[in-house]
Amino acid sequence: MRSLMYISPKFYIFVLKMIHGRELERRYEEIRKIAGQRRVFEVGCGPALLGGYLGKERYVGMDLNERFVRYARKKGFNCSVGDILKDEFQEADVGVAVDVLHHITPKEGELIESMRKKFHEVIVIEPVSAFNVRLPKALRVLWDSTFGDADGINPLKNREKWQFSEKELLEYMKNLGAERAYTVGKDVVAVFRGVKTRNI
Ligand SMILES: C[S@@+](CC[C@H](N)C(=O)[O-])C[C@H]1O[C@@H](n2cnc3c(N)ncnc32)[C@H](O)[C@@H]1O
Repeated sequence: MRSLMYISPKFYIFVLKMIHGRELERRYEEIRKIAGQRRVFEVGCGPALLGGYLGKERYVGMDLNERFVRYARKKGFNCSVGDILKDEFQEADVGVAVDVLHHITPKEGELIESMRKKFHEVIVIEPVSAFNVRLPKALRVLWDSTFGDADGINPLKNREKWQFSEKELLEYMKNLGAERAYTVGKDVVAVFRGVKTRNI
């Protein structure tokens, strides 16, 4: 089941702006700074907010949510419906995953490895505190499926295991192989080198 956010791209964007405020801009600007003029492929692109910062020419995205993809395509972005854990990524220089690892956990290591095989560099951004609410189980399930993070793809029982302090998240990114991991506002940014790049 999808929560309201994942049914309506406009509501998703509204909620994101409410949660992050000005920090939202900072996270996408950080990616723009790291990627420079290179082509970017975004896994779990949602409504392609990042595309608005990079420009249509050098941005490609993939998401399983067909409503988000339709919305992004209407805005002129090159996005397609696909499963980031199964389908082939499109060609680009840099792979990006924003707010996605806590959705697909426990398969985040698998995703990062497949991105490192495909791209020269991989940029991951995760909020320090993901959208988990401390409530009794029945209320947690109700919250998740109405206003929460239920994307209709990944079960709550997996997603709610993603619990890190800022220090733990930085360490976890390093353990996953990040070359560097640092905090920008309320986000952790981790940069991984592509496997091919490492062997040059
Ligand atoms: C919190 S949203 C992040 C969207 C976007 N990156 C952003 O910055 O707004 C997480 C996205 O991951 C997508 N997603 C989750 N699991 C997926 C999968 N296996 N394949 C493709 N997309 C997936 C969801 O549909 C959702 O759009």
